[in-house]
Amino acid sequence: MITFTLNGQKIAFEGDQDMPLLWYIRDEAQLTGTKFGCGVAACGACTVLADGMPIRSCSTPVAAVEGQSIKTVEGLETATDKAVQTAWRELEVAQCGYCQSGQIMAASALLSQNPNPTDEDINIAMDGNLCRCATYHRIRAAIHTAAKKQTG
Ligand code: FES
Ligand code: FES
Repeated sequence: MITFTLNGQKIAFEGDQDMPLLWYIRDEAQLTGTKFGCGVAACGACTVLADGMPIRSCSTPVAAVEGQSIKTVEGLETATDKAVQTAWRELEVAQCGYCQSGQIMAASALLSQNPNPTDEDINIAMDGNLCRCATYHRIRAAIHTAAKKQTG
C-alpha cells in the first residue's frame, strides 16, 4: 500500500504502484484541473507539487510519492497560492488555458521559495512549462504582480 496526502486528504492506494500519479489524480480522484500533455515529462502540463516542489505527474509513479504531500491546482490555499491566482485573473494570463494549471503550480512553488524573483529566476523556474499559446510574457508579469501582492 502507498500512502500520501492529496490536497490535505489522506490517501491509501492499493492499486498498481507503477501507475503514473497523473492517472490517479485525474481518473481516480477526479481532479481534472491537472492536464495530460506530452506524457514524457517534456511540457509541464501535468505539474503538481510534492512537498512543495514541482513534479511531472505524468512521469512519476504513485510509488514515488509515498509519504509525500501532493498539491494540485484544486488545492491552492496558501497566501502565495491566492496571490498567484489573483494575479493570473487580473492579468488575464490564460489563452486556451490548457497549460495554465501547470504554470500556476510552478509559479506558486517559485514564489514560495523566492518571494521576489528576477526575470532570470522566473525564466529558470518556468523553463520546462511550455505554452503553445505563447503567454510567456503575461506569465512573467503575473509572477511579478503576485510577488508584489504577497510581499505587500
Ligand atoms: S504531460 Fe507531463 S510533462 Fe507533459
Ligand atoms: S494558454 Fe494555451 S497552451 Fe498555454
